[in-house]
Amino acid sequence: MSKKKIVFSGVQPTGNLHLGNYLGALKNFVSLQEEMNCIYCVVDLHAITTFQNPKDLKKNVLETLASFLATGLNPDKSIIFNQSSVSGHAELAWILNCVSRIGWLNRMTQFKDKAGSDKEKASVGLYIYPNLMAADILLYKATHVPVGADQKQHLELSRDIAQKFNSDFDCKDFFPLPEPLIPKNVSRVMSLRDGNKKMSKSEESDYSRINLKDSADEITKKIKKAKSASDQIPDNLKDLEKKPEALNLMHIYSEISKISLEKVLNEMSGKEYSHLKSKLTDLLIDEITPVGKEINKLLNDKSHLELILKKGKEKANIIAEENLKIIREKVGLI
Ligand code: TRP
Repeated sequence: MSKKKIVFSGVQPTGNLHLGNYLGALKNFVSLQEEMNCIYCVVDLHAITTFQNPKDLKKNVLETLASFLATGLNPDKSIIFNQSSVSGHAELAWILNCVSRIGWLNRMTQFKDKAGSDKEKASVGLYIYPNLMAADILLYKATHVPVGADQKQHLELSRDIAQKFNSDFDCKDFFPLPEPLIPKNVSRVMSLRDGNKKMSKSEESDYSRINLKDSADEITKKIKKAKSASDQIPDNLKDLEKKPEALNLMHIYSEISKISLEKVLNEMSGKEYSHLKSKLTDLLIDEITPVGKEINKLLNDKSHLELILKKGKEKANIIAEENLKIIREKVGLI
C-alpha cells in the first residue's frame, strides 16, 4: 500500500469552469486516471473560505462534478466526491493546524493576494486554507498532486507539514511527501484581454475567458475580440514572448492541436493573427462545445450526479477512516 502511487487533486466549486481549468487541470486528471489510483475532490470547504451563497454553492458542486465527468473522469476508475461529505478532511485539518506554523502561513502569497488590502477582515479560514489543502492530500497519503503553477507554494507547505508530523510523532515516512505534477506548457492559460493575468472566473469581463459551456457563437466572438498583436506572427519564440496575448493564443492553439509551439511558429510565421484566430476558433469549437453540451445533459439528471457523489464518498471515507485511525493513535487521541 505505502509504495503505490496515489493521486489527489481538488477543484473549487466556484462557478463555471473555463479553458484554463480544462487545459491546466482536468485534461491532466483524465490522463492520470489510466496510470494511477486517483482521487478527485470538489473542495466545497475551500470555497466557503470566502462567502458563498448557499444555493449557488450546491448548484456549483453539481456543476463542477458534471464538468469532471464531461471531460472524461470516470467514477469507475477514480474516486470522485465532495470534500465536506468526508468529515475526515476537517478533522485532519484541525490536527494539522496544530502542526503547521504561523510563520509558514505568513509566507503564502495567495493569501496576500486574496485577502486584499484589509487582511484583518479576511476569514480565518482563508488564512489556514493551505492547512486544509495539506489535510486533503495527506488524508489519503497521496504521493502525486496535479495542480497549476499557482498552487506550488501550497504544495511545498504540505510537504513541510508532512515532514514535521513525521518527525514530531516519530514516524519517519508515515506521510509520503507529495510531489506536484505541474503541466509544462499550459500551467497558465492567460486572460484573453490581458496576457499577464491568469484566465480566471473572477475577471469581470466574460470576454477574458472561454467557459466550458460557451456556445460556438460565443467562442467565435471571444476569439475575434481577443487581444493579439498588430504586426504579423514572428518566426521565433523570443519575439513572440514580447507579446503576451499573442503568445497565449499560440500556446492554446499548440496545446489543443498537440503541435509543438516551434512547429506552429514555423507554420504560421509571416501570417496575420487573424489566420491563427480562425484556426483556433475551429479547434476550440470542436473541443469545447461537446464538453459544454455534455455538462448540460448531465445537469438535467441531478439524482444521477448525487448518486455518483454518494458512491465516491463511501469509497473515500473507507480510506480516510483507515488512515485517521492510525493518525489519531499517533497523536495520542483516544
Ligand atoms: N487550492 C486548490 C486550488 O484552488 C484546490 C485544492 C484544494 C487542491 N485542496 C487540494 C488542489 C488538494 C490539490 C490538492 O486550485
